[in-house]
Amino acid sequence: MRIIGTGRAHPSKIVTNAMLEQFLDTNDEWIKTRTGIAERRVISSEKLEDLATEAALKAIADAGLTPKDIDYIICSNVVSEYITPGLSCIVQGAIGARCACVDINVACSGFVYALDMADDRIKSGKAQNILVVAAEEPSRMVDWSDRSLCVLFGDGAGAVVVSHGEGMICSRLTTESKTDCLYYVRNLEPTPYITKEEYGAPMYMNGKEVFKTAVLSSSRDIKRLLDKAGLHPADIKYYVLHQANMRIIEAIANWLKLDMSYFPHNVDYCGNTSSASIPLLLDELAKGGKLQKGDKILMSAFGAGFTTGACIIEWTK
Ligand code: UT7
Repeated sequence: MRIIGTGRAHPSKIVTNAMLEQFLDTNDEWIKTRTGIAERRVISSEKLEDLATEAALKAIADAGLTPKDIDYIICSNVVSEYITPGLSCIVQGAIGARCACVDINVACSGFVYALDMADDRIKSGKAQNILVVAAEEPSRMVDWSDRSLCVLFGDGAGAVVVSHGEGMICSRLTTESKTDCLYYVRNLEPTPYITKEEYGAPMYMNGKEVFKTAVLSSSRDIKRLLDKAGLHPADIKYYVLHQANMRIIEAIANWLKLDMSYFPHNVDYCGNTSSASIPLLLDELAKGGKLQKGDKILMSAFGAGFTTGACIIEWTK
């Protein structure tokens, strides 16, 4: 597969660190030093499906296609107001496409998993033009009185259209069931028969554990992919990494002995937007004229599960 169009949509509300200081025992200095985040975009009046639809339509237009040309939709999403139907079905209706749709929930690694699935489907000849949308609202999973978590996240939607071509160089997906360091449990409806204990609570994260696992797993995935592709670290134009924390990105840059010009970022003004962070950044690079035909881009993500997804693509647009 190759990427032929990109798009993105941000919520209108910008929440600065100073705004958080008004109701939390936190400060700009702590947030910037520990995470690199200065502000984040957070859903207020919008619906997540509207952001997903906007990003999708932009990606389809950028690809020079119409929604009728899309023959498969994969939507990466952790939470939205709907449990069912999936966000992909809602987006399909909103853009006026007619095709099979599927939602996946691989936490922050979802976009890379979706690209890998799209690659397989195109290789098998089952689809021609696939829309991949990653739409996330992690701001709705956290307790906004918990300073250790709510300062970290932002919402948004990024999309790409992929079609037949030679853009995917290699990919690597891993999952290791480790459910105690990052989770969000919701209460389901009661029934007359439930006898077990159940509970729902805002997101829980063991930040230090996730930080360590993220740096180690992302570095491992990057090394394996570079080796597999026979590339040196400096052969990659951009490392488009999951945007969870600037310190994680810097640790990976140090480990690769590369300067930060290889590591574009949006965590500073978007926060951690879960699986949307990579396609948001990709669209920004593409629309900002930063990508040339033939550039190699390495994407690497990690998330709850614990899951990781990484791939090297060649920019062919
Ligand atoms: O996409 C999902 C993946 N998630 C991640 O990748 C997150 C990975 N982890 C991290 O990014 C970091 O662990 C955090 C940014 C979440 C936390 O940074 P840390 O350096 O691990 O800080 P900490 O949790 O050890 O907290 C240090 C101190 C604590 O105070 P004491 O116990 O030392 O007195 C916290 O209570 O900082 C305090 N603290 C805060 N202070 C001001 C925690 N949150 C805040 C805050 N403002 N917002």
